[in-house]
Amino acid sequence: MKIIIINGPNLNLLGKREPEVYGSETFEAIFNNLQNKFSEIELTYFQSNIEGEIIDKLHEVGFDYDGVILNAAAYTHTSVGIGDAVKGIETPVVEVHISNVQAREEFRHQSFVSANAKGVIFGFGIKGYDLAIQSFL
Ligand code: DQA
Repeated sequence: MKIIIINGPNLNLLGKREPEVYGSETFEAIFNNLQNKFSEIELTYFQSNIEGEIIDKLHEVGFDYDGVILNAAAYTHTSVGIGDAVKGIETPVVEVHISNVQAREEFRHQSFVSANAKGVIFGFGIKGYDLAIQSFL
């Protein structure tokens, strides 16, 4: 089974960025733990701060992989292009957010991804990535 985690803008700063919201672990450490825990899965990871690169990655994996776990970060709330890409690919996409976006500013309540996602997980911290992998098993 092939699953990719795609993280959007500023998530390369996990561990340093607003640790009270996003935790103090780097994504490299989180990803390492996930790879160890789900060793039977071919798990890969991609991060970009560039909207078009996220769209290109969705196109690249979206007809071949078994699952996409997408935290489009701020682009979730703004990107029709990422929403259209999620709609256009065949691979099911699980949307993840570390924080409880519904409990935060109103602009974070809107998602261009959710309508075409298989499901949405938010508010469980970095454990959301683990839960998203489990949803594909
Ligand atoms: C986020 C929530 C977004 O609103 C924010 O822009 C992020 C991270 C989360 O994982 O909680 O960068 O997607």
